[in-house]
Amino acid sequence: MKEFNTITCSAEENIAIITINRPKYLNALNTEVLQELSEAVDFIAVNKEIRAVVLTGAGEKAFVAGADIAEMQSKNVLEAREFSSLGNRIFSKLENLSIPVIAAVNGFALGGGCELAMACDIRIAGSKAKFGQPEVGLGIMAGFGGTQRLARLVGAGIAKELLYTGEMISADRAYEIGLVNKVVNSVEVQEEAIKMAQMIASKSPLGVSFTKKAINDGVNLDLERALSLEAELFGALFSTDDQTEGMTAFLEKRQAAFKGE
Ligand code: HXC
Repeated sequence: MKEFNTITCSAEENIAIITINRPKYLNALNTEVLQELSEAVDFIAVNKEIRAVVLTGAGEKAFVAGADIAEMQSKNVLEAREFSSLGNRIFSKLENLSIPVIAAVNGFALGGGCELAMACDIRIAGSKAKFGQPEVGLGIMAGFGGTQRLARLVGAGIAKELLYTGEMISADRAYEIGLVNKVVNSVEVQEEAIKMAQMIASKSPLGVSFTKKAINDGVNLDLERALSLEAELFGALFSTDDQTEGMTAFLEKRQAAFKGE
């Protein structure tokens, strides 16, 4: 697809796979990784063939063990704020891709790694994965969206517990609190994520992306406005070939062939 230094990005049929590839440093996020991730997202955003993305980490040990502590150590106030903003911009771009992104969490997802997983639509974890926001142990705080996305995903009470204690939790505990969607055998994480991505890719691309928009934009609105957004998007689908094909295929008792148009 495209060559990078610190990540890989490939496509299998309609599914793109992005792998953070610094296994020696447990895939820690430095500026180069963030910039390359941003480029990969831009590339996927304009590639109409791609219908879902799987995001994972290289090696068996880590998804991503956080932002790169060695790079951050000597930052001043302005540089640290810019690093946080850079990560936030890129994670938001990933979150707002029109297609779903599934995090295949194959090991440590700590600090910026947990935050990256939370910017994805769905998280599938290996049974040995560990999650946490250990920043307070480094004299800092979460800065790639953790204070906001964790509270929205699991509720403010549990989010505060994790963010104040820095405690690492197991994949099973992450499942219990709603941080992950599914826990599977560690060696099957990527396969499971691809399977789910393929299932999504077989559905109407416009139905899926409008659903994503309704959920992502709707959570920031009051219920009344969020419901009118849903109605607006629902109505708009009736001007698309996907709707004609989906309903015709049902009535003709055949599999729909969606084009995303
Ligand atoms: C830089 C890291 C790293 C990180 C691991 N490494 N995590 N380098 N940044 N976040 C490096 C180690 O220094 C080491 O390099 C190599 O990866 C292997 O890690 P070990 O520590 O030797 O492995 P292990 O003993 O198995 O411990 C695994 C671990 C531990 C528990 C995950 O590495 C760890 O605690 N990492 C830091 C986790 C963390 O605090 N994350 C939050 C970062 S702050 P060498 O060269 O020694 O072999 C953050 C803020 C986000 O994410 C917001 C920013 C704005």
